[in-house]
Amino acid sequence: MTTFDTAKLAGDYANESPQKILELALNHFDNLWLSFSGADDIVVLDMAWKINPNIKVFTLDTGRLHPETYRFLEQVRKHYGIKIEALSPDHQQLEAYVHEKGLFDFYESGHGECCGIRKIAPLRRKLASVDAWITGQRKDQSPTRADVPVIEQDAAFSTPEHTVIKFNPLASYSSEDVWNYIRMLEIPYNPLHERGFVSIGCEPCTRPVLPNQHEREGRWWWEEATQKECGLHAGNLIAKS
Ligand code: ADX
Ligand code: SF4
Repeated sequence: MTTFDTAKLAGDYANESPQKILELALNHFDNLWLSFSGADDIVVLDMAWKINPNIKVFTLDTGRLHPETYRFLEQVRKHYGIKIEALSPDHQQLEAYVHEKGLFDFYESGHGECCGIRKIAPLRRKLASVDAWITGQRKDQSPTRADVPVIEQDAAFSTPEHTVIKFNPLASYSSEDVWNYIRMLEIPYNPLHERGFVSIGCEPCTRPVLPNQHEREGRWWWEEATQKECGLHAGNLIAKS
Protein backbone atom coordinates (compact mmCIF):
# COMPACT_ATOMS: atom_id res chain seq x y z
CA MET A 1 0.00 0.00 0.00
CA THR A 2 1.43 3.41 -0.96
CA THR A 3 1.64 6.07 1.73
CA PHE A 4 -1.40 8.20 2.29
CA ASP A 5 -0.74 11.90 2.91
CA THR A 6 -3.96 12.71 4.76
CA ALA A 7 -3.42 16.44 5.21
CA LYS A 8 -2.46 17.02 1.58
CA LEU A 9 -5.26 14.85 0.20
CA ALA A 10 -7.80 16.54 2.48
CA GLY A 11 -6.84 19.83 0.84
CA ASP A 12 -6.73 18.43 -2.68
CA TYR A 13 -10.14 16.76 -2.32
CA ALA A 14 -11.88 19.47 -0.28
CA ASN A 15 -14.00 20.57 -3.22
CA GLU A 16 -14.29 17.25 -5.01
CA SER A 17 -17.55 15.37 -5.38
CA PRO A 18 -18.45 12.67 -2.83
CA GLN A 19 -17.94 10.07 -5.56
CA LYS A 20 -14.37 11.22 -6.22
CA ILE A 21 -13.60 11.08 -2.51
CA LEU A 22 -15.11 7.59 -2.31
CA GLU A 23 -13.06 6.46 -5.32
CA LEU A 24 -9.91 7.62 -3.57
CA ALA A 25 -10.89 5.74 -0.42
CA LEU A 26 -11.88 2.56 -2.22
CA ASN A 27 -8.82 2.57 -4.46
CA HIS A 28 -6.38 3.12 -1.64
CA PHE A 29 -7.72 1.03 1.24
CA ASP A 30 -8.77 -2.62 1.27
CA ASN A 31 -9.54 -2.69 4.96
CA LEU A 32 -12.10 0.07 4.59
CA TRP A 33 -15.57 0.05 6.19
CA LEU A 34 -18.64 2.19 5.78
CA SER A 35 -20.49 3.09 8.95
CA PHE A 36 -24.21 3.15 8.19
CA SER A 37 -26.77 4.41 10.69
CA GLY A 38 -29.92 3.56 8.76
CA ALA A 39 -30.86 7.20 8.17
CA ASP A 40 -30.17 9.60 5.29
CA ASP A 41 -26.58 8.29 5.09
CA ILE A 42 -28.14 5.79 2.67
CA VAL A 43 -26.81 8.29 0.11
CA VAL A 44 -23.17 7.58 0.91
CA LEU A 45 -23.86 3.85 0.95
CA ASP A 46 -25.55 4.06 -2.46
CA MET A 47 -22.67 6.07 -3.91
CA ALA A 48 -20.03 3.70 -2.53
CA TRP A 49 -21.92 0.60 -3.67
CA LYS A 50 -22.17 1.99 -7.20
CA ILE A 51 -18.37 2.32 -7.26
CA ASN A 52 -17.72 -1.04 -5.61
CA PRO A 53 -20.62 -3.41 -4.79
CA ASN A 54 -18.30 -5.28 -2.42
CA ILE A 55 -18.22 -2.32 -0.05
CA LYS A 56 -17.95 -3.48 3.57
CA VAL A 57 -20.66 -2.04 5.82
CA PHE A 58 -21.25 -2.10 9.56
CA THR A 59 -23.93 -0.66 11.77
CA LEU A 60 -23.89 -0.06 15.51
CA ASP A 61 -26.86 -2.00 16.80
CA THR A 62 -27.46 -0.22 20.07
CA GLY A 63 -30.52 -2.33 20.83
CA ARG A 64 -32.53 0.89 21.01
CA LEU A 65 -33.11 1.72 17.35
CA HIS A 66 -36.63 2.27 16.02
CA PRO A 67 -38.38 -0.81 14.60
CA GLU A 68 -38.54 1.15 11.32
CA THR A 69 -34.75 1.47 11.32
CA TYR A 70 -34.24 -2.25 11.91
CA ARG A 71 -36.61 -2.99 9.03
CA PHE A 72 -34.83 -0.42 6.87
CA LEU A 73 -31.46 -2.04 7.58
CA GLU A 74 -32.91 -5.31 6.37
CA GLN A 75 -34.42 -3.64 3.30
CA VAL A 76 -31.02 -2.13 2.46
CA ARG A 77 -29.29 -5.48 2.94
CA LYS A 78 -31.62 -7.09 0.42
CA HIS A 79 -31.86 -4.17 -2.00
CA TYR A 80 -28.09 -3.90 -2.45
CA GLY A 81 -27.33 -7.57 -1.91
CA ILE A 82 -24.77 -6.70 0.77
CA LYS A 83 -23.96 -7.99 4.21
CA ILE A 84 -24.30 -5.52 7.07
CA GLU A 85 -22.21 -6.32 10.11
CA ALA A 86 -24.30 -5.39 13.16
CA LEU A 87 -22.06 -4.57 16.11
CA SER A 88 -23.56 -5.26 19.53
CA PRO A 89 -22.59 -3.80 22.91
CA ASP A 90 -20.63 -5.90 25.38
CA HIS A 91 -23.34 -7.76 27.28
CA GLN A 92 -21.61 -7.71 30.67
CA GLN A 93 -21.02 -3.97 30.55
CA LEU A 94 -24.55 -3.34 29.33
CA GLU A 95 -26.24 -5.61 31.87
CA ALA A 96 -24.32 -4.03 34.75
CA TYR A 97 -25.21 -0.54 33.54
CA VAL A 98 -28.92 -1.26 33.06
CA HIS A 99 -29.07 -3.09 36.38
CA GLU A 100 -27.57 -0.08 38.14
CA LYS A 101 -29.18 2.81 36.28
CA GLY A 102 -32.20 1.48 34.40
CA LEU A 103 -33.19 1.84 30.78
CA PHE A 104 -33.69 5.60 30.60
CA ASP A 105 -30.90 7.06 32.71
CA PHE A 106 -29.73 9.29 29.83
CA TYR A 107 -32.66 11.66 30.45
CA GLU A 108 -31.27 12.32 33.93
CA SER A 109 -27.53 11.83 33.64
CA GLY A 110 -26.94 12.75 29.99
CA HIS A 111 -26.31 10.39 27.11
CA GLY A 112 -22.58 9.87 27.67
CA GLU A 113 -22.57 6.62 29.60
CA CYS A 114 -25.23 4.86 27.58
CA CYS A 115 -23.72 5.93 24.24
CA GLY A 116 -20.33 4.93 25.63
CA ILE A 117 -21.51 1.35 26.13
CA ARG A 118 -23.94 0.94 23.27
CA LYS A 119 -22.04 2.80 20.54
CA ILE A 120 -18.51 3.93 21.35
CA ALA A 121 -17.10 0.72 22.83
CA PRO A 122 -18.33 -1.43 19.89
CA LEU A 123 -17.01 1.17 17.44
CA ARG A 124 -13.63 1.25 19.20
CA ARG A 125 -13.48 -2.53 19.05
CA LYS A 126 -14.25 -2.47 15.33
CA LEU A 127 -11.90 0.36 14.40
CA ALA A 128 -9.00 -1.33 16.22
CA SER A 129 -8.83 -3.71 13.26
CA VAL A 130 -9.72 -1.28 10.47
CA ASP A 131 -7.44 1.01 8.45
CA ALA A 132 -10.07 3.49 7.31
CA TRP A 133 -13.78 4.17 7.68
CA ILE A 134 -16.40 6.15 5.84
CA THR A 135 -19.14 8.14 7.53
CA GLY A 136 -22.13 10.17 6.37
CA GLN A 137 -21.21 13.19 8.51
CA ARG A 138 -22.02 16.62 7.05
CA LYS A 139 -21.01 20.12 8.04
CA ASP A 140 -24.61 21.31 8.03
CA GLN A 141 -25.73 18.69 10.56
CA SER A 142 -24.50 20.41 13.68
CA PRO A 143 -22.42 23.33 15.01
CA THR A 144 -19.93 20.69 16.14
CA ARG A 145 -19.51 19.56 12.52
CA ALA A 146 -19.03 22.94 10.83
CA ASP A 147 -15.36 22.20 10.12
CA VAL A 148 -15.57 18.51 9.26
CA PRO A 149 -12.92 17.80 6.60
CA VAL A 150 -13.50 15.34 3.75
CA ILE A 151 -10.54 13.24 4.93
CA GLU A 152 -8.91 13.24 8.35
CA GLN A 153 -6.86 11.15 10.69
CA ASP A 154 -9.39 10.01 13.26
CA ALA A 155 -8.42 11.92 16.38
CA ALA A 156 -10.65 9.84 18.65
CA PHE A 157 -9.91 6.30 17.49
CA SER A 158 -6.30 6.36 16.29
CA THR A 159 -3.73 5.12 18.76
CA PRO A 160 0.07 5.55 18.78
CA GLU A 161 0.29 2.05 17.26
CA HIS A 162 -2.61 2.23 14.83
CA THR A 163 -3.73 5.14 12.66
CA VAL A 164 -7.33 5.19 11.48
CA ILE A 165 -8.26 7.36 8.52
CA LYS A 166 -11.77 8.76 8.38
CA PHE A 167 -13.52 9.75 5.16
CA ASN A 168 -16.49 12.10 5.27
CA PRO A 169 -17.43 12.28 1.59
CA LEU A 170 -20.71 14.14 2.24
CA ALA A 171 -19.03 16.82 4.38
CA SER A 172 -20.00 19.62 2.00
CA TYR A 173 -23.36 18.21 1.00
CA SER A 174 -26.43 19.95 2.37
CA SER A 175 -29.55 18.20 3.58
CA GLU A 176 -31.17 19.47 0.38
CA ASP A 177 -28.45 17.80 -1.74
CA VAL A 178 -28.99 14.54 0.14
CA TRP A 179 -32.73 14.60 -0.41
CA ASN A 180 -32.42 15.60 -4.06
CA TYR A 181 -30.18 12.55 -4.50
CA ILE A 182 -32.60 10.23 -2.70
CA ARG A 183 -35.57 11.44 -4.75
CA MET A 184 -33.87 11.72 -8.14
CA LEU A 185 -32.33 8.26 -7.93
CA GLU A 186 -35.35 6.78 -6.14
CA ILE A 187 -33.26 4.91 -3.63
CA PRO A 188 -34.84 3.40 -0.48
CA TYR A 189 -35.07 5.54 2.64
CA ASN A 190 -36.09 5.14 6.25
CA PRO A 191 -39.91 5.66 6.46
CA LEU A 192 -39.44 7.70 9.65
CA HIS A 193 -38.41 10.55 7.35
CA GLU A 194 -42.03 10.69 6.18
CA ARG A 195 -43.11 11.46 9.75
CA GLY A 196 -40.98 14.52 10.46
CA PHE A 197 -37.81 12.76 11.55
CA VAL A 198 -34.74 14.27 9.90
CA SER A 199 -31.68 13.15 11.90
CA ILE A 200 -32.30 9.64 13.23
CA GLY A 201 -30.52 7.89 16.09
CA CYS A 202 -31.87 5.71 18.89
CA GLU A 203 -35.63 5.72 19.51
CA PRO A 204 -35.64 7.22 23.03
CA CYS A 205 -33.18 9.97 22.00
CA THR A 206 -34.71 11.01 18.67
CA ARG A 207 -37.86 12.97 17.94
CA PRO A 208 -39.38 14.61 14.86
CA VAL A 209 -38.68 18.28 14.23
CA LEU A 210 -41.06 21.02 13.16
CA PRO A 211 -40.69 22.87 9.85
CA ASN A 212 -37.53 25.03 9.95
CA GLN A 213 -36.33 23.54 13.20
CA HIS A 214 -32.73 22.40 12.88
CA GLU A 215 -32.40 18.64 12.43
CA ARG A 216 -30.16 18.34 15.47
CA GLU A 217 -32.97 19.62 17.71
CA GLY A 218 -34.52 16.22 17.25
CA ARG A 219 -31.56 14.52 18.95
CA TRP A 220 -30.88 14.57 22.73
CA TRP A 221 -33.16 17.63 22.90
CA TRP A 222 -32.70 17.93 26.66
CA GLU A 223 -28.98 18.70 26.19
CA GLU A 224 -26.92 21.66 24.90
CA ALA A 225 -26.39 21.82 21.11
CA THR A 226 -22.62 22.10 21.50
CA GLN A 227 -22.50 18.79 23.40
CA LYS A 228 -24.47 16.79 20.90
CA GLU A 229 -21.76 14.40 19.84
CA CYS A 230 -22.25 10.94 21.22
CA GLY A 231 -18.56 10.14 20.85
CA LEU A 232 -18.63 8.45 17.44
CA HIS A 233 -17.31 11.70 16.11
CA ALA A 234 -15.62 12.93 19.27
CA GLY A 235 -12.75 14.07 17.07
CA ASN A 236 -14.98 17.02 16.10
CA LEU A 237 -14.93 18.21 19.72
CA ILE A 238 -11.22 17.44 20.16
CA ALA A 239 -10.46 19.52 17.05
CA LYS A 240 -12.40 22.46 18.50
CA SER A 241 -11.01 22.36 22.02
S1 ADX B 1 -24.39 10.61 15.89
O1 ADX B 1 -23.00 10.52 16.34
O2 ADX B 1 -25.02 11.88 16.18
O3 ADX B 1 -25.21 9.47 16.31
P1 ADX B 1 -25.32 10.87 13.20
O4 ADX B 1 -26.60 10.19 13.49
O5 ADX B 1 -25.36 12.34 12.96
O6 ADX B 1 -24.23 10.52 14.33
O7 ADX B 1 -24.66 10.15 11.95
C1 ADX B 1 -23.45 10.59 11.37
C2 ADX B 1 -22.71 9.39 10.85
O8 ADX B 1 -22.22 8.61 11.95
C3 ADX B 1 -23.55 8.43 10.04
O9 ADX B 1 -23.66 8.81 8.69
C4 ADX B 1 -22.78 7.14 10.21
O10 ADX B 1 -21.66 7.10 9.36
C5 ADX B 1 -22.31 7.25 11.65
N1 ADX B 1 -23.29 6.63 12.56
C6 ADX B 1 -24.15 7.22 13.41
N2 ADX B 1 -24.90 6.31 14.08
C7 ADX B 1 -24.50 5.11 13.62
C8 ADX B 1 -24.90 3.76 13.88
N3 ADX B 1 -25.84 3.44 14.77
N4 ADX B 1 -24.25 2.76 13.21
C9 ADX B 1 -23.29 3.03 12.32
N5 ADX B 1 -22.88 4.28 12.02
C10 ADX B 1 -23.48 5.30 12.66
FE1 SF4 C 1 -28.27 5.25 24.65
FE2 SF4 C 1 -29.67 7.29 23.59
FE3 SF4 C 1 -27.01 7.02 23.15
FE4 SF4 C 1 -28.77 5.35 22.02
S1 SF4 C 1 -28.55 7.58 21.64
S2 SF4 C 1 -26.87 4.79 22.94
S3 SF4 C 1 -30.29 5.12 23.69
S4 SF4 C 1 -28.06 7.48 25.11
